[in-house]
Amino acid sequence: TALPLDLVSAIQELKRELNAVVLAHYYQESEIQDVADYIGDSLGLSRQAASTDADVIVFAGVHFMAETAKILNPNKLVLLPDLEAGCSLADSCPPDQFAAFKAVHPDHLVISYVNCTAAIKAMSDIICTSSNAVQIVQQIPAEQPIIFAPDKNLGRYVMAQTGRDLLLWDGSCIVHETFSERKLIDLKVQHPEAEVVAHPECEPTILRHAHFVGSTTALLNYTQQSPKQAFIVATESGILHQMQKQAPGKTYIPAPPTQNCACNECPYMRLNTLEKLYTAMKERSPEITLPEEVRVAALKPMERMLEMSA
Ligand code: 13P
Ligand code: SF4
Repeated sequence: TALPLDLVSAIQELKRELNAVVLAHYYQESEIQDVADYIGDSLGLSRQAASTDADVIVFAGVHFMAETAKILNPNKLVLLPDLEAGCSLADSCPPDQFAAFKAVHPDHLVISYVNCTAAIKAMSDIICTSSNAVQIVQQIPAEQPIIFAPDKNLGRYVMAQTGRDLLLWDGSCIVHETFSERKLIDLKVQHPEAEVVAHPECEPTILRHAHFVGSTTALLNYTQQSPKQAFIVATESGILHQMQKQAPGKTYIPAPPTQNCACNECPYMRLNTLEKLYTAMKERSPEITLPEEVRVAALKPMERMLEMSA
């Protein structure tokens, strides 16, 4: 497809033509965030997907997020600009291995972090996100054993917050495991005025330095409302765009990765571009599809999450 010169106007035009809504995660590149109708964390995006009256959902995020939108909206066209936009955390939990793990612990309730495939959701009792994981685990009776999958770092954080023992799946996110504690300590010494804020997908060695831990939306809100003027931000660096936009006078320093690289950018999230977003809308493809039995099974734990975090 030949690309129009003014991609942003062309995307706005296609939104009207298709009655489409563009939902974007904070880890998308700035240009995509600026063209979106709604930007949010995984819980906010799920809520938007559950309530939209658009005919087409263009999901500027990764595959499991677009799949979640499809689980909630079987009759809508759900587009993902690049189908290769996966997730290391979702990949760290293959369905056959998880089914075997679950079979060994039949008395356990399965709570899965939304960063997993529809097949894993279909095997789960309740889904959670980084913004409601603690709240959901607290609602489960103390005597009920729980499997928590797939992120062991979020799982360990929830264990520390709730005092509950969780049986953890050994998965993690490559982006949030990239931060160096030694370099973070150096940076704290250089910027004693700055507060560290971190996403719970980070390792405990990073979280122990954080003044505040939360989902992307929670980190954004915290930095806006805090009287502090400087922050070291331990999550994917895409979030800095909204932080700068909403409180431009403050200083935001990305937490340093171990290697000298841009590895605090999610390589999957960054596969989406404004060009691919336009092309997906123009061609109404690539679209997310799901076998109906998987979708129905994955919907139940999603609905439980939405009820339990109302
Ligand atoms: P939240 O935006 O829900 O905090 O999720 C972070 C993340 O890693 C998404 O892939
Ligand atoms: Fe997955 Fe991590 Fe990328 Fe989020 S940041 S999409 S958890 S790989």
